[in-house]
Amino acid sequence: MKLASIIGTRPQFVKAASLSRFLKIFSDSSMKNRIRVKEIIIHTGQHYEEKMTEPFFREMNIPNPDYYLNVRLSSPIKQIARIMIKIEELLVYEKPDFVLIYGDTNSSIAGSLAAVKQNIPIAHIEAGLRSYDRSMPEEINRIVIDSVSTLFFCPTVTSVENLKREGITRNVFLVGDIMWEAFQNYQDQAKHTSRIIEQLKINGKAYLLCTIHRASNTDQLENLKNIMIGLTRSKEPIILPLHPRTKKMIERNQRLRKYMGENIQVIEPVGYFDMLVLEQNAKKIITDSGGVQKEAYFQKVPCITLRENTEWVETVEQGVNRLVGVDPVKIIEAIHQFQPNEFQFDHSLFGDGHTSAKIVEILGNRMNQ
Ligand code: UD1
Ligand code: UDP
Repeated sequence: MKLASIIGTRPQFVKAASLSRFLKIFSDSSMKNRIRVKEIIIHTGQHYEEKMTEPFFREMNIPNPDYYLNVRLSSPIKQIARIMIKIEELLVYEKPDFVLIYGDTNSSIAGSLAAVKQNIPIAHIEAGLRSYDRSMPEEINRIVIDSVSTLFFCPTVTSVENLKREGITRNVFLVGDIMWEAFQNYQDQAKHTSRIIEQLKINGKAYLLCTIHRASNTDQLENLKNIMIGLTRSKEPIILPLHPRTKKMIERNQRLRKYMGENIQVIEPVGYFDMLVLEQNAKKIITDSGGVQKEAYFQKVPCITLRENTEWVETVEQGVNRLVGVDPVKIIEAIHQFQPNEFQFDHSLFGDGHTSAKIVEILGNRMNQ
């Protein structure tokens, strides 16, 4: 069975790492007598800076990509189109049995359109997620990808129900969350190898961790300004590993700096292991990231989400994630008062941590049909 994994952004490296890791164990085990699996990795180059890529491949031992497409953003459509053209050529040449699409990025939508036009079955990992907010580029990507996918690997019960509401019920598999698997695989290793707490000279549970990169929060300056106003009023220090997108916006709009208080410590984006350790030691996490919302939950750290909605609704329903949008008053209120208790974190919501094994087994059965 030949699989083509299409990746290009930081969260996709984390997701694909789990699958590649499982395939390595699989190919070393007796199970390989049943089916031989070859994975080729296509890295679109959507994220390209060393700090956004290298630590992920190194720490999680992700095999070097077989193909690197080097397609950076000029406009979303140009990026999607260029990736599609390059992937089409590769798919014609490689003829994989399945194309694996992770999540909802421009790399994901481009990969899925290239695959469907070649009649290659698409396995969508993280299928069925919806924020029901069509102003989010990712929401459009999710809808398009799910409308052309063959196999739907859903992380949560909610995502299965979302697909059902759209009339998609065949080949839908509740396999759990692949980032939960990654978390379980790497959390201990991260704790033992990361020195980030010492490097930043911070104390556990005495700081807040923040990430910001959603298009709506960075491209609309008023929103970024309001977030900064809210964060600046925190009494606790805030560690802010700054996404390149947000960094560019702040650099281009110097007046934003005056809204950033001295309590905000801006650092470069960190690798996955450092991030896990920063999350674990944070008193609270403030984010607009999908992946970081989930990781806050895995870490049992209260999460304050800088959005009006989320596709990870379970975390909100459990009472451990509060949606505050970009309202400075709501942000500061949550920083001061939001305090869920430990028992509200029910990890079974994200599966049993064996998502990759389930995916590979289902794909294998499909091959043998
Ligand atoms: C993308 C995904 C988003 C995901 C995020 C993960 C889309 C539509 N968005 O958003 O769903 O949550 O990745 O982090 O696919 N840039 C750099 N250096 C880099 C990477 C990006 O400078 O290594 C710059 C780009 O040139 C661009 C901006 O950051 O100007 C945004 O990059 P892009 O990949 O389009 O979107 P993200 O915000 O990273
Ligand atoms: N992450 C990281 N370093 C950072 C910020 C995030 O390693 O400086 C990891 C984080 O732990 C999670 C993933 O990147 O595993 C989430 O990616 P991101 O927030 O960029 O995208 P999203 O999940 O919103 O698509």
